[in-house]
Amino acid sequence: MDLWECPAVVTGAASGLGAETARYLAEAGAKVAMIDIDAEGMQKLADEIGALAIQCDVADSASAEQAFAKAREAHGPARVLVNCVGRGHFEPIFGDNGPMSLESFRQLVEVNLISTFNMMRLAAADMAKLPPLLTGERGLILSTASVSAYEGQVGEAAYAASKGGVVSMILPAARELGPLGIRVVAIAPGLFGTQTLFALEKDLDSRLARQIPFPHRFGDPAEFAMLVLHVIKNVMINGSVLRLDGGYHR
Ligand SMILES: NC(=O)c1ccc[n+]([C@@H]2O[C@H](COP(=O)([O-])OP(=O)(O)OC[C@H]3O[C@@H](n4cnc5c(N)ncnc54)[C@H](O)[C@@H]3O)[C@@H](O)[C@H]2O)c1
Repeated sequence: MDLWECPAVVTGAASGLGAETARYLAEAGAKVAMIDIDAEGMQKLADEIGALAIQCDVADSASAEQAFAKAREAHGPARVLVNCVGRGHFEPIFGDNGPMSLESFRQLVEVNLISTFNMMRLAAADMAKLPPLLTGERGLILSTASVSAYEGQVGEAAYAASKGGVVSMILPAARELGPLGIRVVAIAPGLFGTQTLFALEKDLDSRLARQIPFPHRFGDPAEFAMLVLHVIKNVMINGSVLRLDGGYHR
């Protein structure tokens, strides 16, 4: 898909992988609508790259619907949706203070999984009404999973469950939306040097990075954004979860 003047929505766009993706899409000529709960961080980047910033808590479905409508009003229905919103969470199922609160689990699933499905359903309904491009394609929905969906660690049961849900819906969604010319893909990042990772891992010396076969360093958000751009351009990529992890298996 050609990104010139292409309406694109990026969630979680104030920071990390989403911010870099928004920047790359804007540089490629897309009309970018950024969605994030962090209005200040997002506006700064939006001004820099000429994007539209829409503040929204994606865990609130009504607010997410309004944000999506604002993006549509400003730029027209999105042909590209990149879901990058996500929160890390590291907590034992039960610890010294008793069992993990069910509310924490619920909130994590709300932000990481339910919001991803919510954005997917809203985007798909809009994309289905768009005229097909020369390739027959109407749109692309790209979401962010995690390698923890496959190899979650102790303390990651809730996070892994939320990301496992994202992984599981990619193929059935691609099967359902394929006849409409809408592709559905996810990227499962390994360890990337962003706020989420630093919040989970206080002790960020090279201990973790050494476990990555190659390169022995955290991923750069630009490497994630480059893959997003490739997926947008390569119409054969569909129904898959692409690992982006330097060979890292925990
Ligand atoms: N960084 C990593 O190593 C890594 C690894 C695997 C998966 N991921 C996933 O990649 C995605 C992006 O992570 P990141 O590392 O760039 O994190 P990040 O913390 O830098 O960015 C996440 C963004 O989401 C926003 N956000 C959080 N909750 C929100 C809500 N309820 N409503 C709206 N916005 C909200 C935050 O304000 C932030 O701007 C997440 O889904 C994360 O789980 C990251």
